[in-house]
Amino acid sequence: MSNNNSSSQPQQANQQWGGRFSEATDAFVARFTASVDFDQRMYRQDIQGSVAHARMLAKVGVLTNDERDDIVRGLQEIVDEIESGEFEWSVALEDVHMNIEAALTQKIGITGKKLHTGRSRNDQVATDIRLYLRDELDVILSELSRLQRGLLDVAEREADTIMPGFTHLQTAQPVTFGHHLLAWFEMLQRDFGRLQDCRKRINIMPLGAAALAGTTYPIDRHYTAELLGFDCASENSLDSVSDRDFAIEFCAAASLIMTHLSRSSEELVLWTSAQFDFIDLPDRFCTGSSIMPQKKNPDVPELVRGKSGRVTGHLVSLLTLMKSQPLAYNKDNQEDKEPLFDVIDTLQGCLRAYADMIPAITSKKENMREAALRGFSTATDLADYLVRSGVAFRDAHEIVGKSVAYGIEQSKDLGEMSLAELQQFSDQIQEDVFEVLTLEGSVAARDHIGGTAPDQVRAAVARGRQKLTDRG
Ligand code: ARG
Repeated sequence: MSNNNSSSQPQQANQQWGGRFSEATDAFVARFTASVDFDQRMYRQDIQGSVAHARMLAKVGVLTNDERDDIVRGLQEIVDEIESGEFEWSVALEDVHMNIEAALTQKIGITGKKLHTGRSRNDQVATDIRLYLRDELDVILSELSRLQRGLLDVAEREADTIMPGFTHLQTAQPVTFGHHLLAWFEMLQRDFGRLQDCRKRINIMPLGAAALAGTTYPIDRHYTAELLGFDCASENSLDSVSDRDFAIEFCAAASLIMTHLSRSSEELVLWTSAQFDFIDLPDRFCTGSSIMPQKKNPDVPELVRGKSGRVTGHLVSLLTLMKSQPLAYNKDNQEDKEPLFDVIDTLQGCLRAYADMIPAITSKKENMREAALRGFSTATDLADYLVRSGVAFRDAHEIVGKSVAYGIEQSKDLGEMSLAELQQFSDQIQEDVFEVLTLEGSVAARDHIGGTAPDQVRAAVARGRQKLTDRG
């Protein structure tokens, strides 16, 4: 594909569509317009679609049963040849569809030329992409579930582990590490729902739309749809060959997943730094530096964070690709595949790395606890304590603010002050205040659905497991 200054012209016009042409395609143009280098990965779905189409044509009497059997057998041999690496892909034959059709004709003769009856590459390619994406989406859904299962396991293990919770990346209130991991679980839970929803619109069959207007043969689209496991046949032939919404929707859902993974990655990177030192990632998920012998870099989270940019980029590519396209099929659409395939590959890789890595995280509980003890993380608890003894919240806020200012001056956290010191700010403060100023008291008090209390974390883990089980 590198020689771009050639204008050599083979004598023969293309064998699939060259009838009306008086000269062969320019050699560079042939390479420029070909998609076989990247669409050959859909060979299995292309053949699956052709087998179903041939069966349908025989059912309605357009092909004989013998012709159908020859076609199905020939196509099955082609699958074997492709998978054993024997098949020779030809750029002159443009794309996966014409490569396979030409090989079939070579194998079974004239019957091979009948396969394309009542069909066009326009509805064929739309069908192939949907079948391909459906298969890959199912892999993605199962990797997503595996990652979520891992998060639940670690969350359960870390239900009692206390760490500082942050807002503005400043210490806010103590939370449990398990609770934090369950926040990630929830993001992915929404992602799973989005992908499932998107799958419904992927699973509609365009085949039968032919080039754009439908076909004059007595085709049975419901039968073909059933053979291919589609939920239904599409309603409008023009829309069928031009629609790529399903790919865009998938890329949008994928971008959001990558955004979520990128946020988690950012936290993992921070937490493994010497400054936080909250967690350890096993060596097998990290790499070293060629110059600084002490380094252990969190490469997997960093790369995942980086790859989120390219997935979102592909989403924007596809939106821009479709914008302003008139109905129905345009060759522009051939440009849908590389971004889509890269999104699939990137997402699968990131999910796999994450699903492997998450269960292997170990927490450094003492460091997390130390950090939560710094930064006056129980200040809100002191305010709530005052409210319970009759002080209005705004006044309580003021009292605690003054206590914190005193603590900063004295380098003492609230829990480290004596009762007498605390009572300087309010005579409502009694001995029992220390129960709420401990980290354990603080998290245990947030004991409602969605709260950070260890018992709530364990209950949320149980509900999460049930949701995963219900997915089947
Ligand atoms: N390779 C083409 C694509 O990816 C297949 C459809 C081509 N149709 C056509 N009429 N040229 O979109």
